[in-house]
Amino acid sequence: MRILHDRDLSAPPLPGPCLGEVRDTVAESVQRAADRSWSLADLDWRRLRPEVLTDTDRSAVRFISFIEDHIPGYLSWLMEMFPVVGEEIPVEEFCLRREYFRFFVTWAADEERHASVLTRYQTLAGMAEPDALARELAEECRKRWTLPYREPLQAFTYTLIQEKATQLFYQQFRRVVHEPVLRDLLNRLARDEARHFALYSHLVGIYVRDHRGRALAPMKEVLDTFRMPLADTLGGYWRWSLRIADAVGYDYTQAYEALARLVSDYADAPAGEDADTLLAFVDSVRKLA
Ligand SMILES: [Fe+2]
Ligand SMILES: [Fe+2]
Repeated sequence: MRILHDRDLSAPPLPGPCLGEVRDTVAESVQRAADRSWSLADLDWRRLRPEVLTDTDRSAVRFISFIEDHIPGYLSWLMEMFPVVGEEIPVEEFCLRREYFRFFVTWAADEERHASVLTRYQTLAGMAEPDALARELAEECRKRWTLPYREPLQAFTYTLIQEKATQLFYQQFRRVVHEPVLRDLLNRLARDEARHFALYSHLVGIYVRDHRGRALAPMKEVLDTFRMPLADTLGGYWRWSLRIADAVGYDYTQAYEALARLVSDYADAPAGEDADTLLAFVDSVRKLA
């Protein structure tokens, strides 16, 4: 089901949030990342029991390795969306982007760790030989990845849904896995993704609070065109992802509920004269799930 566009596509982006609020939000998220950081050495690799991995486990680990390993592409896209080099950037806009940058580099370090730990897992579990795996990942990683979005709210909305979807997948996958190191690993990944979701959700929440009904059109565009990362570039993506989703009992559209809840929280806020518009949006998002 598609949500119809109702926006003038030449309209300028919505004004950004207040700098102080973004600064505080980012500082809190970066601090939480530092407080909850972990490394590959924190996993007890001696407990690894590859013999209990099922074919589905192995297939899913290979699949999520491709997705996490694409971090150079995701980060490049964010740097294109929020450039921080160039004197033509207005200072006010630069200040906001400078705060986002603090988060992006912390976020990228988390995602890089996810890529590294999955690579380590594959090699220690005997699923792949390191150099062959590096080349296989490189085939996909070097493919250009981009999104058709033009404004910050859309970038944040996309990442909000994608981080929540990834978190839900890891939680669901962990429920069906018996291999102890993979269980620990999935737990750590899910916790990191939940932390990423919290930051993007906070930013989208600021837009909805500040712009209410006017924030909905850019978000609708994202829902209309939503694809999980690499859906259009990774060979065999659709069949592979459906098979895994089926095996672990997961559906990425469950993540839409997080966006619906966020918007509905603002529908009844004081001075909410457009509450009906917000609730209609919530309703249409829920129908997508
Ligand atoms: Fe990740
Ligand atoms: Fe993430």
